Amino acid sequence: MLFSETELSAATFAFLAGLVYDRSRIRLGPDKRALVAGRLARHLEMRGCASFDAYCERLRRPGADDEIGTLIDLIATNHTQFFREPAHFDILSRELLPTLTARAVAAAHPLRVWSAAAASGEEPYSLAIVMAEQTRQQPGFTWEVHASDISRRMLDRCRLGIYDADKVKLPDPGLLPRYFRKGFGQREGCVRLKPEIRRHVTVEHVNLFQPTYPVPRALDIVFCRNVMIYFDVDSRQELVARLFDQLAPGGYLFVGHAESLLGLAHRFETVRPGVYRRPT
Ligand SMILES: C[S@@+](CC[C@H](N)C(=O)[O-])C[C@H]1O[C@@H](n2cnc3c(N)ncnc32)[C@H](O)[C@@H]1O
Repeated sequence: MLFSETELSAATFAFLAGLVYDRSRIRLGPDKRALVAGRLARHLEMRGCASFDAYCERLRRPGADDEIGTLIDLIATNHTQFFREPAHFDILSRELLPTLTARAVAAAHPLRVWSAAAASGEEPYSLAIVMAEQTRQQPGFTWEVHASDISRRMLDRCRLGIYDADKVKLPDPGLLPRYFRKGFGQREGCVRLKPEIRRHVTVEHVNLFQPTYPVPRALDIVFCRNVMIYFDVDSRQELVARLFDQLAPGGYLFVGHAESLLGLAHRFETVRPGVYRRPT
């Protein structure tokens, strides 16, 4: 039996949308009813739930945190790719990194980067590749990338760092042999980030609306891209203020091209579309 939109009543949808919002701030308008039904159908079957209401009963039980996590996982859009929105990586390596790395070296601390909605890892590993390339030109600086997401399923994939080779599109073909190993046997057709890259990337579960973040303060770079579009204005406002506080003076926030801080009150300087700087 598969569950269709018609079996998801307005009241049950409202309960699910409320729960998703409370836990993640992902806003599901009434137009998302078909999407929710579609994304949950197979899961309900696998869980042996006879209806959407039976599933909601399960979500209401004490100790349902893991099930609620799975719900958010199924609802969230996790699409990503290596070097997505390439202009951001260009600006970073050509314009911003020389100064940021010099500053980190002078302060004798690693350059600290956070990919705050990392999904399956393509974004934090793209950042790691940019950092590793920078060390080739400017040896002597150290760096760390923190990758986090609300989805534990995505974070497991991020930790593994294994991707279909044909989906790994890099700005320079030389980067593939430099930073990836080819899979053999069962892993034929896959590539994996080399351990010397993976060891720089720390993967942690973070809900962007949890009270405190388990990543360092005084970050140099935060990528928080293609996630704010799912939040309402109040949540965006709150998030942007918190990311400002998490950055070092002179640090940079990157948001997706479809997102901007337009219409939000904030203290950032605008550098480029989607690129903002915390003033020194
Ligand atoms: C479309 S992906 C963006 C991936 C990457 N940043 C990019 O631009 O390619 C959005 C990610 O945001 C995550 N997400 C949604 N709500 C979140 C929240 N409240 N806290 C942390 N991550 C969240 C989702 O799980 C999903 O992996």
